Amino acid sequence: MRRKLVAGNWKMHGSLEANQQLLGALVEGLRGYDAADVAVCVPAPYLAQTRSMLSGSNVAWGAQNVSKHASGAYTGEISASMLLDFDCRYVLIGHSERRALYGESDHAAAAKFVAASQAGLVPVVCVGETLSERETGVTEAVIARQIEAVLSLAGVAAFSNAVIAYEPVWAIGTGRTATPEQAQQVHAFIRGLIRQHDAAVAEGLVILYGGSVKAANAASLFGQPDIDGGLVGGASLVADEFVAICKAVKS
Ligand code: PGA
Repeated sequence: MRRKLVAGNWKMHGSLEANQQLLGALVEGLRGYDAADVAVCVPAPYLAQTRSMLSGSNVAWGAQNVSKHASGAYTGEISASMLLDFDCRYVLIGHSERRALYGESDHAAAAKFVAASQAGLVPVVCVGETLSERETGVTEAVIARQIEAVLSLAGVAAFSNAVIAYEPVWAIGTGRTATPEQAQQVHAFIRGLIRQHDAAVAEGLVILYGGSVKAANAASLFGQPDIDGGLVGGASLVADEFVAICKAVKS
């Protein structure tokens, strides 16, 4: 049985003061909660604060990006071992904003996945089609291309300790959520892709849905057989809303 995961993606939001309130409220609101794993992926400067506030709680933490390099002259980059210094468990890889705004290719995302995975972080690799790709009927082809790039560099075994997040680009930050059926269809497709390489890895793989997840739609999404939780952007910045999304997972 796969254990569900709800991960918050704060993106470039937060301040020491705001985080203190939010993290404090998550610790309180999720105390004793055990139906799913919970994590927040915070901006890197706040990892020390996050670690200090979440240590000993049942909320894990992670980062939103990582360098493919271990160390060296790469100004502005952050390595996997630096994230581990702050006890990160997860790191987002290839979020659509990284792909669209910073030109991250499928190959670049794959290289980051390998760096994270080899260091012992759990990579959360994000895939998803744009609206025009959906409308032209190439959703599955796009997702297959994004995932095959990682598979060919990392190998299927690396997916036994990784997460895939399906995030249709048209649903991110738009308030327009994929229907549970639309999402389920793509999740099943993703699991099928991995199954072609390794059935056991596919069965154990946690596949998150992301894109305008809210307390109001979380239960119906998470109730689908191949949706193993959510990657939550905007709603993860509101403590009550995020806690309610976590609690939409049925124990
Ligand atoms: P959203 O973002 O929940 O605000 O749509 C999701 C994401 O980008 O991970």
